[in-house]
Amino acid sequence: MSTVYAIANQKGGVGKTTTAVNLAACIAEAEYEVLLIDMDAQANATVGLGLPKDASPSVYDVLAGDAPLEQAIQRTALEHLAIVPASPDLAGANVELPRIGGSEHRLRDALAPVRDRFAFTILDCPPSLGPLTVNALVAADRVIVPVQAEYYALEGLAGLLDTLSLIQRELNPRLTIAGMVLTMHDGRTRLAQDVEQEVRSHFPQLVFETVIPRNVRIGEAPSFGQPVIHHDPHCAGSDAYFELAREVAARG
Ligand SMILES: Nc1ncnc2c1ncn2[C@@H]1O[C@H](COP(=O)(O)OP(=O)(O)OP(=O)(O)O)[C@@H](O)[C@H]1O
Ligand SMILES: [Mg+2]
Repeated sequence: MSTVYAIANQKGGVGKTTTAVNLAACIAEAEYEVLLIDMDAQANATVGLGLPKDASPSVYDVLAGDAPLEQAIQRTALEHLAIVPASPDLAGANVELPRIGGSEHRLRDALAPVRDRFAFTILDCPPSLGPLTVNALVAADRVIVPVQAEYYALEGLAGLLDTLSLIQRELNPRLTIAGMVLTMHDGRTRLAQDVEQEVRSHFPQLVFETVIPRNVRIGEAPSFGQPVIHHDPHCAGSDAYFELAREVAARG
């Protein structure tokens, strides 16, 4: 059995990449084979795992139909974690994909021959609901939505849920929401507590129990090209991502 998770929210800077990289790392640490696919031209997940962002072939070549996905898979410093890197030219796919009929299925089709080699595949989406995110949502079985514990947290979530329903109806009936995860939560502030309460009451059942705290170690880990669980295995951020990985696995 292999499960594909898309980490998506069209809002920028809410912790998608941080969640994708660290969730992937925690699952790999438990010795499951994990594939992370970087679907964002910013290539933050690629760089955050210590890889250069000019790799070739990259996910762009795969989506363009110029390379099989298998050829774009690279090893990372973590034994059980492989990555399909992004490169800046992926931005071009936003223009090119819509011109090709049926291009929403490109990633799903490219992934099909290899997906059973990995127990988990994690797709790091860009901050938009454009063709790259649509490709990820069509290829995915489940979506995880990181929600930053800030004032505007709820804004845009209704639109995101509408898009998910549309994709379920039109393109991918298997797609379900695994959950929303509150990120960058500062437990000392009243605001973070209020936002958490509001998100939980708006979306009962949907929000993971685990809350990811705002944590300096999480923020600095990418500059070392490492997931936080390697940068500082015992910090609060690492504890939280291990806890989230357990919850994700338990929800199935
Ligand atoms: N829990 C946290 N504590 C501290 N810093 C964090 C935390 N989570 C994320 N960050 C930092 O916040 C910034 C945004 O996080 P991240 O890149 O994961 O968001 P994103 O949703 O992927 O952004 P984008 O929409 O641009 O792809 C990054 O600098 C990241 O290191
Ligand atoms: Mg990102």
